[in-house]
Amino acid sequence: MKSPDTHVHETPPPGSAPDWTCPQNWDAFSPGEHAMWDRLFARQWDMLPGRASDAFLRGIDVLRLEKPGIPDYRELNARLVDATGWQVVAVPGLVPDEVFFDHLANRRFPAGNFIRTPEQLDYLQEPDVFHDVFGHVPMLADPVFADYMVAYGLGGLRSLKFDALKQLARLYWYTVEFGLIREAGGLRIYGAGIVSSYSESVFALDSDSPNRIGFDLARVMRTDYRIDDFQQNYFVIDSLGQLLDTTVNTDFAPLYVENAALPPIPIADILPGDEVITRGTQDYATAKA
Ligand code: PHE
Repeated sequence: MKSPDTHVHETPPPGSAPDWTCPQNWDAFSPGEHAMWDRLFARQWDMLPGRASDAFLRGIDVLRLEKPGIPDYRELNARLVDATGWQVVAVPGLVPDEVFFDHLANRRFPAGNFIRTPEQLDYLQEPDVFHDVFGHVPMLADPVFADYMVAYGLGGLRSLKFDALKQLARLYWYTVEFGLIREAGGLRIYGAGIVSSYSESVFALDSDSPNRIGFDLARVMRTDYRIDDFQQNYFVIDSLGQLLDTTVNTDFAPLYVENAALPPIPIADILPGDEVITRGTQDYATAKA
């Protein structure tokens, strides 16, 4: 996950290039680390048919991600470059926003070069290789989503000039990380934060607690989110084409200015203009509060 609220170093740590990338050093992963990947993969794999979006499942297939062990980027990138021109690059951990956006704009997805420990099976603060590669990379094999992520990177660099990072980060959060999509069979997951989490993959689709609301760009850019627990809202797109077209064909500059004059929308609020797909009970969030 990429969150501007999380602490990042100011300069690349020793062993990293100026763009923060480091060698994946695949041969250095231990058998236990590969086994952790396999354990996480197996758990998601059993559950995702009927839950993950078509594009995600296609990506797993195209990239041969079902092969055991942490993927070796030399192999993975050969397939990914063929599919969409994207590649995965290793980074030690979270990187500064500008560096992150610049990688995306150049079709490079930075992936944390470590894997969670058994104690962190269900929750960890910084994105590891399982979240970044299993969660994000399958979607990058889809040509439309691949273009969306490039446009997002360019838009991110532009947003810095408008002091509008927070608005743009909400768009990332509610699409790339926690997006749902309407397909013929019903709602499906395309967001990496959901699809790489066992419990949220169930919660996002099955729970009565969260709101599920039709995607609206300006509304999403004003909506607060939580980074510490299941989302209270999911925004639903009709297609990846809709997501790409609405974002690419909208000049965000006037939107940034307009939104900045309005208060943020509290996390679980439903507004008069919302296309409500599910009005959540918010029982899960209330019980925890
Ligand atoms: N159209 C946006 C802008 O004017 C750029 C963008 C595209 C941002 C896609 C996010 C996603 O800044």
